[in-house]
Amino acid sequence: MASFYVTTPIYYVNAAPHLGHAYTTIAADVLARHHRQRGDEVFFLTGTDEHGEPVADAAHALGLEPQELADRNAERFRALAPRLGASNDFFIRTTDPQHMAKVQEILTRVRENGFVYEGTYEGWYCPRCADFKAENEIEEGNRCPIHHVELVREQEENYFFKLSAFQEPLERLYAEREDFIAPRSRYNEALSFIRSGLRDVPLTRHKLTWGVPVPWDSEHVFYVWFDALLNYYSALSYAPAPAGVPTPSSAATSGTRAPAGVPMPSSAATSGARAPAAGAVANPGDLTTRFWPADYHLIAKDILRFHAVYWPALLLAAELELPRRLFVHGYLLMEGEKMSKSLGNVLDPFAVIERFGADALRFYLLRDVPFGQDGSVSTTAFEQRYESELANEYGNLASRTLAMVRRYRDGVLPAAEIDSELAGDFEGLAEEVCELLDRAEITQALDAIWQRVRRLNRYVEERAPWTLAKNAQRAGDLDGVLASLAEGVRVVSLLLVPYLPASAERLLDALGAEDRTLAAARLGAGIKTRPPPDSATPPRPVGELEPLFPKP
Ligand code: MSP
Repeated sequence: MASFYVTTPIYYVNAAPHLGHAYTTIAADVLARHHRQRGDEVFFLTGTDEHGEPVADAAHALGLEPQELADRNAERFRALAPRLGASNDFFIRTTDPQHMAKVQEILTRVRENGFVYEGTYEGWYCPRCADFKAENEIEEGNRCPIHHVELVREQEENYFFKLSAFQEPLERLYAEREDFIAPRSRYNEALSFIRSGLRDVPLTRHKLTWGVPVPWDSEHVFYVWFDALLNYYSALSYAPAPAGVPTPSSAATSGTRAPAGVPMPSSAATSGARAPAAGAVANPGDLTTRFWPADYHLIAKDILRFHAVYWPALLLAAELELPRRLFVHGYLLMEGEKMSKSLGNVLDPFAVIERFGADALRFYLLRDVPFGQDGSVSTTAFEQRYESELANEYGNLASRTLAMVRRYRDGVLPAAEIDSELAGDFEGLAEEVCELLDRAEITQALDAIWQRVRRLNRYVEERAPWTLAKNAQRAGDLDGVLASLAEGVRVVSLLLVPYLPASAERLLDALGAEDRTLAAARLGAGIKTRPPPDSATPPRPVGELEPLFPKP
């Protein structure tokens, strides 16, 4: 069985969750749910990044200990996921002791492999980014280009990570795996950063105490980015197995992946994933062999360099396999909004969910802003899409279809031949959606499905079942139209489950569609599962359905 591992960035706990965080989590959830429908074993990870200066500073400003602020905000992020309808399999916190121990283990290995040395670092540092800025990045007035706060001149005795040793291996990686980063513009951006020459970077911080202690020098903690990046790997070593996924102790080594085939730097020459270090006691529930390397890390462009450069270099230094792909989405821009009647002028995820439900928010964000590009969001645009697309196009299609089956056929779906013209318009749809989602083209896949929602609305108008119903001689035609329509609605709903999990599932329940796998996303597949007209089992009528997207 294939496996699929998808991650979101782990979010800083220095502030409360907002729409931007919700966005990446929703997108990752679409991929996770889609792969579950394909029958893959899925692991979907999200969580919180709790160490480092930004969190320590925010806590002190509030008169709190960092741990107190972390506990408070981590709960808010943890609670956000289910409210968004996100089906994450685990929620990692970088203050989890198991994560911290794993960070120490891996970074000690990086040191043993010869990629860590002691030195002095001097540079312009942004405490909000927890990052040193290169001279060419600094904004006028000696400010951070992202946060616009004044940079601090820092000089520190540090341990360094020999990033420069990975210049050539990373260039080779990018040459061999052109799909390592999408969209292409981000791949180019990362590659040109690498080509401009990699400099060694601090691995530890001396003055900070809020972090993972460095095992070989108690006066240091690890630089928060190395701690944070390792969450993607550490989580697998202690997260419980998702339902239906056998643990390695019961599945032996069947899940071991082929090595990614990326050449190692000469000093770390070895192939593939490394076995647990001698003497280490493997956790019997360890999911690492089952799910590592990750299939997709979803991030926004703000953290590209860490994921596209530091992360693969760190993994190479630790002799671990590299993730398969990064997808870098754009920013949701929220300025310049018009006032909206029901939502005020802030698209607050909690307020939207409260009034319209999580599905509406998921749909709007993934439909209105092409995934991968920047885009403005607004309450007005949200309300327009809600009304015209969710309520009118999909919601009405659903209620009309069920109402006609009830009125003309006592609620029993006829098992008639599917209209060949309509079948033609659905041909290859499930495959197209799979191909698009394999490339994380989440908006395009939704658009392909939505074109069929519109096609079904046109089909109703073209065939006018209400006219056929007036003529007893056309009963066979009416059967065909209703059967085709119900099948079309079932197929689009199956494909919409990853996007609109609550509403699409409700509609599928009402249609009595039991098979929720992608294999059933073909026109006609639903009819085969119904009892034949002469069977002893009486046909089950369609269920009741409250409006999917009511007027608020
Ligand atoms: N803690 C680091 C990430 C460590 S990952 C090993 C961090 N945290 S963050 O809280 O700042 O989250 C940044 C991420 O949140 C972005 O990469 C993106 O996924 C999401 N977004 C935050 N604001 C956003 C927008 N306005 N628009 C789109 N995504 C946004 O960086």
